[in-house]
Amino acid sequence: MIEVDQLSKSYGPREAIRNLSFQIKKGEVIGFLGPNGAGKTTTMNILACIMPASSGTARICGLDVFEQSLEIRKLIGYLPETPPLYSDMVISDYLAFAARIRNVPKTHTALAVDRVVEKCSLTEVRNRIVGRLSKGFQQRVGIAQALIHDPDILILDEPTIGLDPIQIIEIRKLIQELAASHTIILSSHILPEITQICKRVIILNDGEIAAVDSLEALTARLRKGDRLFLRVRQADVGTIDKLNALSRVVAVTQQEDEQFVIECEPHANIQDAVAKLALDQGWGIVELTPASVTLEDIFLKLTLEENEVNL
Ligand SMILES: Nc1ncnc2c1ncn2[C@@H]1O[C@H](COP(=O)(O)OP(=O)(O)OP(=O)(O)O)[C@@H](O)[C@H]1O
Ligand SMILES: [Mg+2]
Repeated sequence: MIEVDQLSKSYGPREAIRNLSFQIKKGEVIGFLGPNGAGKTTTMNILACIMPASSGTARICGLDVFEQSLEIRKLIGYLPETPPLYSDMVISDYLAFAARIRNVPKTHTALAVDRVVEKCSLTEVRNRIVGRLSKGFQQRVGIAQALIHDPDILILDEPTIGLDPIQIIEIRKLIQELAASHTIILSSHILPEITQICKRVIILNDGEIAAVDSLEALTARLRKGDRLFLRVRQADVGTIDKLNALSRVVAVTQQEDEQFVIECEPHANIQDAVAKLALDQGWGIVELTPASVTLEDIFLKLTLEENEVNL
């Protein structure tokens, strides 16, 4: 549905994105992940036909974003980094205005407004002024304007930024609901958000793609073995060496005085051996759990370690 090939964009001498290529299928929910300045907004702006690329192509439903932008705009709803809201307008008037801009026929405007008001749970506030709403509700209005012309594809640039934890959960829920019937590209700094909502991630770093994969595949690829977390009541100077001496242990790191991370071979299943050793030595087990590799580990690995970037 979305095909991006060798896409690059420079702002004057500054290269914001370099040779990006990826594809997104109909119905997919893709997460754009990357540190500040990675090129997420630039890529989204090009896909939403806000600005042209310097080179390369991007096609949406077979249409070229540069050549056929008017057609593409009908297919896409966009929530930019800063939502395009008019703070003095009443919400339903603003949404009617958004409908006019998006060429929704005049006879359908009221229906379109009712539909997005309901979808984005804005019924109680529809007669209030945009600027007086909380940031969470303003974000809902931003999403409502992106949906007003009933597009198949939604591009949401950091939809939960600046919201409090409760509002984050609510906006996330709304996006999850929308995911059932839309193709969605979502950028976020909040890593758990990506794990909750998206099946596949594109990790951007310094204008280039560091990885495109499903979350499971990324985790598996970076996971060289299993990991155990051990916390004891009383460690001694020889604890690390004794853990290291266990069969199938690859490495042991001490996090604090009594906390250890034990890296072991894949499927080593050494919990029993670790527990027995701890009992024999009288260390006193407080916690012994498998430590999973989180998206945060992957993200840091891909964006910080040069040798991992070209995975
Ligand atoms: N209008 C512009 N003029 C010049 N440089 C720009 C412009 N917009 C972005 N850049 C530069 O392009 C690079 C990519 O920026 P972009 O905004 O796409 O990143 P981002 O991943 O969205 O970052 P953030 O997480 O901070 O939103 C950055 O180095 C940025 O400084
Ligand atoms: Mg951005």
